[in-house]
Amino acid sequence: VSAREVVRVEAGAQRADRAGHAPYEVRIGSGVLDELGEACRAWTRTFVLTDENVARWHGSRLQALRAAGAAPAVRAIAPGEGSKTLTELERTLDALVEAGCDRGSGLVAFGGGVVGDLGGLAAALYHRGIPCLQAPTTLLAMVDSSVGGKTAVDLKGGRNLAGAFHQPCLVLADTGLLATLSDVEYRAGLGEVLKTALIDGPLLGRLEEIAGPLARRDTSATAEVVAACVRRKAAIVALDPHEAGPRRQLNLGHTFAHAIEHAAGAGRVPHGLAVAVGVGLALAAAERAGVLREAGLPARVRALARSLGLPARLAELGGAAALGAIAAAMARDKKSSRGAPRFVLPRAAGDVAWDVELAPAELAGLLEREAG
Ligand SMILES: NC(=O)c1ccc[n+]([C@@H]2O[C@H](COP(=O)([O-])OP(=O)(O)OC[C@H]3O[C@@H](n4cnc5c(N)ncnc54)[C@H](O)[C@@H]3O)[C@@H](O)[C@H]2O)c1
Ligand SMILES: [Zn+2]
Repeated sequence: VSAREVVRVEAGAQRADRAGHAPYEVRIGSGVLDELGEACRAWTRTFVLTDENVARWHGSRLQALRAAGAAPAVRAIAPGEGSKTLTELERTLDALVEAGCDRGSGLVAFGGGVVGDLGGLAAALYHRGIPCLQAPTTLLAMVDSSVGGKTAVDLKGGRNLAGAFHQPCLVLADTGLLATLSDVEYRAGLGEVLKTALIDGPLLGRLEEIAGPLARRDTSATAEVVAACVRRKAAIVALDPHEAGPRRQLNLGHTFAHAIEHAAGAGRVPHGLAVAVGVGLALAAAERAGVLREAGLPARVRALARSLGLPARLAELGGAAALGAIAAAMARDKKSSRGAPRFVLPRAAGDVAWDVELAPAELAGLLEREAG
């Protein structure tokens, strides 16, 4: 893989509107963050939102801004999901005012999905929308959350319940930053990679070839996989920017994952690991519901999950989540319309159905079998 790949995302307005919504680039590779200064040059003021971990590990990379003559205002939030709140959003908006940002200013979201979601929403709201440059620093944020324009904070009643669509003006996915990521955060990112590969099709086969180097964080394997995931996500987002239909396939495994996370208790099971198990459950459900056309697929995906160091079955989460609680959480999921939860289920590698209804009894039977 060459040092730098560029994927174009054709989403949102045909012409650039004031907030810069237009087709945008995702630049992927080790070192692309050096392009930050140039990218922010036109702004009256640059505001960087980051978290304390990223600031400690990689804050010096913001030098690229200073070198370009754009000394930024930097705000570092406490790391973790606990910062995705309306309170933190308000503090961030107030900090934008204090920093003297106006309609011509821009925000850089320099961190994982938490910083990306919070920063993206702040940018969507400030002056009714200023440009947001996503500079993802986790594998999950590079392959998933930094692309596609979904932004949100959590409410007491649930995750991501208050948000907006706000496409970034540019994404700089510097894969060199992943070297400092903890093992569990890296594997959580691989959970979303597994999901994207199943949606993609050919990527699943490629992952089987390079699972070893990828699990060991080989830099070229990582960059190749980030680029492939971004290409797949970009294609789906372009088709359906506001999630009216096809984009829902990106929620593969997520109804199960959210239920597992909820049942286990906030923060106990990392999202991406719950997604890996959720993908396995979606395959089992597809089999049960008669949707699955590729008989060997569940075993194939389970084997791949194992070689990536991911849990493949509910039982492997070590009883972190009680079955009854999972079923109850699933019934409450915001994606369920008119009672029965709707599911995204694979028919084959590269062919995913969305909006499939599963009878509660079928679901209960499935969970029991998979937990044992
Ligand atoms: N908007 C979307 O489309 C979308 C999609 C998927 C997930 N999400 C959201 O993303 C969030 C999860 O994102 P995440 O997994 O990146 O979590 P995160 O942002 O909390 O980052 C995980 C941890 O890694 C640390 N970290 C980040 N970069 C690092 C680096 N380079 N080196 C060392 N440590 C680093 C962070 O400080 C944090 O402790 C969730 O809130 C989820 O809802 C959004
Ligand atoms: Zn996810």
